[in-house]
Amino acid sequence: MLDVNKVRKDFPFFTSNPDLIYFDNGATTQKPQCVIDAVSEFYTMGAANVHRGDYPLSLHWDALYDKTRESFAKLLNCQANEIVYTAGSTHSMNQIAYGLQRNFLKPGDVVLITENEHASNVMPWFRMRQESGIQYEYIPVDKQGNIHMEDAKKAMHAGVKAIAVAGVTNVLGAKQPLKELAALAHENGALMIVDGAQSVPHGPTDVQDLDIDFLGFSGHKMGGPGGTGIIYGKYDLLQKMEPVFLGGGMNARFEACGDMLYQEAPEKFEAGTPNIEGVIGLGRAAEYLLSLGMENIEAYEKDLRAYFAERMKELDNVDFYNPDNAYGPIAFNVKDVFAQDTGSYLAANNICVRSGNHCAKILHEVIGTDSTVRASLYFYNTKEEVDRFIEVTKEITLEKAVGIFF
Ligand code: ALA
Repeated sequence: MLDVNKVRKDFPFFTSNPDLIYFDNGATTQKPQCVIDAVSEFYTMGAANVHRGDYPLSLHWDALYDKTRESFAKLLNCQANEIVYTAGSTHSMNQIAYGLQRNFLKPGDVVLITENEHASNVMPWFRMRQESGIQYEYIPVDKQGNIHMEDAKKAMHAGVKAIAVAGVTNVLGAKQPLKELAALAHENGALMIVDGAQSVPHGPTDVQDLDIDFLGFSGHKMGGPGGTGIIYGKYDLLQKMEPVFLGGGMNARFEACGDMLYQEAPEKFEAGTPNIEGVIGLGRAAEYLLSLGMENIEAYEKDLRAYFAERMKELDNVDFYNPDNAYGPIAFNVKDVFAQDTGSYLAANNICVRSGNHCAKILHEVIGTDSTVRASLYFYNTKEEVDRFIEVTKEITLEKAVGIFF
């Protein structure tokens, strides 16, 4: 079992901000001391580039940089050479989409998505339709964002070449049936692509058991440094996929006549000097999560979210959009109050949430409203924080929310 009081001691944030309630973990997370130390060691011991120097300082960082792949191989149950470093989820999802555009997909092929997706798993497909005639279609979802397999089966047809969905959606917290979707995709010769930004940090992800082909996610949403992310891909598919960025570090050779030979995966996707300290810090974050246990993190968060949802149901001044989902954020509006005014009222009471459309700008097709307030949890949040949140939210009215500005 996860001991939250012990865990909170690992995060200097809670010492620096004893009165602040941080419920914006869907946007980014606080960093444990071990990650802060890993990043700062790079600056204090001495910086050197990786895979380019033959002197001890460079070789030291090479070893730590490469080790992060092993930590993620443990976290996801895959091989280290199936882990590609990126700048975050958005970079990952764009590389996957554009990589597939070049040598997997052809005009007329269809990618199935949902109206629940974050911009980074929608906009690349939109542009691909404009540029290459690759089509997208939607798998219908219910009012709380969940895909039902009978709808996914109806949406499947011979033209579908990929399913691309979030593991857990970033506003409603719908946990999608990835294993069943992957089986459906593979039975029909399609690929299974997962945006894991809101799922990987919060529980176990076994890519072999799920039989996912590609997975993209961010490091900063799992206690890691900003500007870090991962693509997992099955190795033969990574070898086949075209890199978006070309440059130093990713090529084996290039000639004046224009011939180019890339490195093998994963290096062929890592052009240019990487975010070395970020990757090393991210490896430390993965080891930290593994030491807590992903099952323990999931169990703790599920219990906390269930408590939060029950307490939200006591409030008669809110519209609560995802009461039945067991994972992810709490999404709501205070009746008659603009989401950002509620966010500001909560901020004035030392509570951090996100309000607005949360980069899921077609979600209004599902829930009928453009803006929501989102309280998103992590394993270091507590029931006491939830209680405080409920006490403050209970008292919000239009007059009070607008009144904080005057
Ligand atoms: N993608 C992040 C979120 O959902 C920033 O808040």
